Amino acid sequence: MAEDKISIQDFSVFFGQSQILHNISMGIAANQVTAIIGPSGCGKSTLLRSINRMNDFFENMRIEGKIIFDGKNVYGPEIDPVEVRQKVGMVFQRPNPFPKSIFENVAYGLRIQGWRDKKKISQRVEESLKSAALWDEVKDRLNSSAFALSGGQQQRLCIARALAVEPEVLLMDEPASALDPIATARIEELVKQLKTRYTILLVTHNMQEAARTSDFTAFLLLGKLIEFGPTPQIFTNPQKKETEDYLTGRFG
Ligand SMILES: Nc1ncnc2c1ncn2[C@@H]1O[C@H](COP(=O)(O)OP(=O)(O)O)[C@@H](O)[C@H]1O
Ligand SMILES: [Mg+2]
Repeated sequence: MAEDKISIQDFSVFFGQSQILHNISMGIAANQVTAIIGPSGCGKSTLLRSINRMNDFFENMRIEGKIIFDGKNVYGPEIDPVEVRQKVGMVFQRPNPFPKSIFENVAYGLRIQGWRDKKKISQRVEESLKSAALWDEVKDRLNSSAFALSGGQQQRLCIARALAVEPEVLLMDEPASALDPIATARIEELVKQLKTRYTILLVTHNMQEAARTSDFTAFLLLGKLIEFGPTPQIFTNPQKKETEDYLTGRFG
């Protein structure tokens, strides 16, 4: 049984008066892919953004409960959210490269961290692009604009950018939803490769994608965790009627 990298404990999120997440408790196993599925608006992105404290940017946001990461509550008073975001990288639904060259997109986080050594920066950029399975396609045009890449390449560039600062956890919020089937398959393949080195949380509204790529699946409905377990069990033998209804397409 894999060890938990993250432990979400009785965790709730409120935006103003409305409660968006209700007392969520679940463990995120190290070096595994955990999928979060559920209908639009059920709180998948909110749960993901809670882990690296991205919801802090919303002024009326309030939480209850804990998220333990490497033994510490990420909402503890001694925690610097900037440090959390370095250890917990994020990839978004739409590829969002910066209006910079391919090279500079990946080097960006390193420069922010104060890296100056050109050789070391080049090395890390190359490693990150290789890890994101993009290197062979871009190695001869690192100085071209990131916008010259296809959507799927841009998304792998965003993954390389996230990997460059050596996170431990990668949060992926519907990373393939804007991509065609071939680009989607490449991202799914990449996710499976990356889990040997990273702990991955993958939000998807695509159930086949969850079934194909994840080890564990969490099913959310109206901000509540309905069911959580090994992916084969959730998909073949769900314990809750709501899960079964969702998986068989009765709603959502
Ligand atoms: N910043 C916010 N302020 C108020 N409500 C929000 C905010 N962000 C999300 N919500 C609400 O929280 C609920 C869950 O949203 P979200 O986490 O984006 O769902 P999902 O990713 O599953 O589609 C939705 O009802 C949404 O309108
Ligand atoms: Mg979402």
